[in-house]
Amino acid sequence: MKRVYFLLVFSAIGMNTYAQKTIDQKVTELLSKMTLEEKVGQMVQYSGFEYATGPQQSNSAAVLEEIKKGKVGSMLNVAGSGETKAFQKLAMQSRLKIPLLFGQDVIHGYRTTFPVNLGQAASWDLDMIEKSERIAATEASAYGIHWTFAPMVDIARDPRWGRVMEGSGEDTYLGTKIGLARIKGFQGKGLGSLDAVMACAKHFAAYGAAVGGRDYNAVDMSLRQLHETYLPPFKAAAEAGVATFMNSFNDINGIPATAHQYIQRNLLKGSWNYKGFVVSDWGSIGEMIPHGYAKDGGEAAEKAILGGSDMDMESRVYMTELPKLVKEGTVDIKLVDDAAGRILTKKFEMGLFDDPYRFSNEKRQKEQTDNKKNREFGREFGSKSIVLLKNQQHILPLSKSVKTVALIGPFGKETVANHGFWSIAFKDDTQRIVSQFDGIRNQLDKNSTLLYAKGCNVDDQDRSMFAEAVETAKKADVVIMTLGEGHAMSGEAKSRSNIGFSGVQEDLLKEIAKTGKPVILMINAGRPLIFNWASDHIPAIMYTWWLGTEAGNSIADILFGTMNPSGKLPMSFPRTEGQIPVYYNHYNTGRPAKNNTDRNYVSAYIDLDNDPKYPFGYGLSYTDFQYSDMVLSSASLTGNETLNISVTVSNTGKYDGEEVIQLYIRDLFGKVVRPVKELKGFQKVFIKKGENKQVHFRLTPEDLKFFDDTLNFDWEGGEFDIMVGTSSQNVQTKRINWVK
Ligand code: BGC
Repeated sequence: MKRVYFLLVFSAIGMNTYAQKTIDQKVTELLSKMTLEEKVGQMVQYSGFEYATGPQQSNSAAVLEEIKKGKVGSMLNVAGSGETKAFQKLAMQSRLKIPLLFGQDVIHGYRTTFPVNLGQAASWDLDMIEKSERIAATEASAYGIHWTFAPMVDIARDPRWGRVMEGSGEDTYLGTKIGLARIKGFQGKGLGSLDAVMACAKHFAAYGAAVGGRDYNAVDMSLRQLHETYLPPFKAAAEAGVATFMNSFNDINGIPATAHQYIQRNLLKGSWNYKGFVVSDWGSIGEMIPHGYAKDGGEAAEKAILGGSDMDMESRVYMTELPKLVKEGTVDIKLVDDAAGRILTKKFEMGLFDDPYRFSNEKRQKEQTDNKKNREFGREFGSKSIVLLKNQQHILPLSKSVKTVALIGPFGKETVANHGFWSIAFKDDTQRIVSQFDGIRNQLDKNSTLLYAKGCNVDDQDRSMFAEAVETAKKADVVIMTLGEGHAMSGEAKSRSNIGFSGVQEDLLKEIAKTGKPVILMINAGRPLIFNWASDHIPAIMYTWWLGTEAGNSIADILFGTMNPSGKLPMSFPRTEGQIPVYYNHYNTGRPAKNNTDRNYVSAYIDLDNDPKYPFGYGLSYTDFQYSDMVLSSASLTGNETLNISVTVSNTGKYDGEEVIQLYIRDLFGKVVRPVKELKGFQKVFIKKGENKQVHFRLTPEDLKFFDDTLNFDWEGGEFDIMVGTSSQNVQTKRINWVK
């Protein structure tokens, strides 16, 4: 039996190596037939003629001709079974008939859109996140797409940076887990399956740390910080077999990421042994000229390829400059062979050499358009992403038989906005999107009335609609206000210096509150906003992000208690912009503030509390959860032992519900200072009302490792605080000693 098993395992390994060798051999063979221009052609990516996020080549006819000549390896923003087939046919006219790769930003859903990514992260539900990407991949691949530019695994601690909406928030551990779930979802059973798309870990690296939260800005940080906070999600992605990487617009310590030999050559393709390929960000190779890092296109191309960029997205310098550079001996042909080889390998793995049209299938496309099951999933996922921030006197959930409800605010009847930024697959079919008004109307009793008033626009100073809104509120028993920031106010190039409600929305809220009617506030946003007045005066607040196709239904499910809120914040919410960056896993400093009142010569602002308005990991439920009986398997451990931690969580409230139980540690003393808390585990657990569950975690020395000042990654013996709780601010603590 054992022998048979070994034989099977052995031959399986043998087969894999053989299969891999076959692709390697095919790539080598193909490369040997290719001219220099054809090889460089594989390294060129152009955009189709929509959705530009940067300067674009306008001469579309010339691009079509270049495809026929084998001078283009990939197109982005070409989608649809018909369109992709048409482009692929052009590539099939080229001398060696090398198929094109079609890439697109499938960021939070495709035809069916899901909550913006930061909202998804608030679900802390890895299974649902993975499933959402499975659906996105199934829909996108049915539209002929081979490759998504996702997941964005940039850690971000600055909510002024608009792209926080596309990531998983401030924490490296949570961000890594979510990134892995997304890659698994996108790549499904593996490249080559018809419903899988290649994933892309972006933006390599540290894009989220742009100075001042201003998009595309410089990044300056220690290598230790880079390794400890920003690189782990990328390393995990590489280890998990993510098909591609995209580098980032920013420089890191003075060197543009696009040409950063240390991160792309030494780490990614060196010690991490990554075999996929790296695409530049849009135009980022050419942008090394304004960066002041390359004097012209030639130098930009040279530095980019030396720095490990394999594919040039839309800056055109590879095609125009690389052949010359190779011929004159400035760039070694081996670098071109390596880059083109990596790209061709993926095309083989995707099965495109067997059938270049295999993803362009009209029947599949039809099945994946407005797919009912996918929408049902989206509805549930939307509800699970909502975070309940405040619920005084249990004003929520609402009864469906409230006689008159008023929905007030600029987002009440929005349709397209609900998709959020980075939703590009549906264009004009707005009727498929459930507005908040429709979602609420669908669930209110037939005899109840739902009134609506817009009250104001999202982002101007016009108060002319206030009076009507106030009159509408006066007629209602309950007012639901829907405020926030416009859906296109977060996302790429959407940095904001003032992250309050835009326009006159807060003034509208104050006017409505004066009516004395109970007000429930729903906040629509792609980032943490600052809304202190609302927090202090409005009895119920839920953070609804941008929830996607089924937004209105997801919201109504929470409002009326069909679903119990279970989201928790993946980013700290600041009290003012002046407090940014505020994040839970900061250092203690030599003069920590003990409380919010003692501000004398301690690390504090003289005019502001140190803690955020709402902390990382925070979120309420309609029910109550009590934590008790935190038990550790031992208070003193040695070497490679395992620490088992258990805690009992009881649902003592009136509703069944889910709770995200969080495990943090603090390494009290180290050869470099350690954060006051570090997330090391979490579990989302469903507990029926009146019941309790025992939840278990385990820690090993692997979880205690950190980078020291020489970038050595190891753990140290000593004292540790072990903390379990319902948010980063509300934990129980036990101390242990762990000897190395
Ligand atoms: C963004 C990338 C995106 C690319 C293609 C760039 O501007 O930074 O994240 O994938 O455009 O649309």
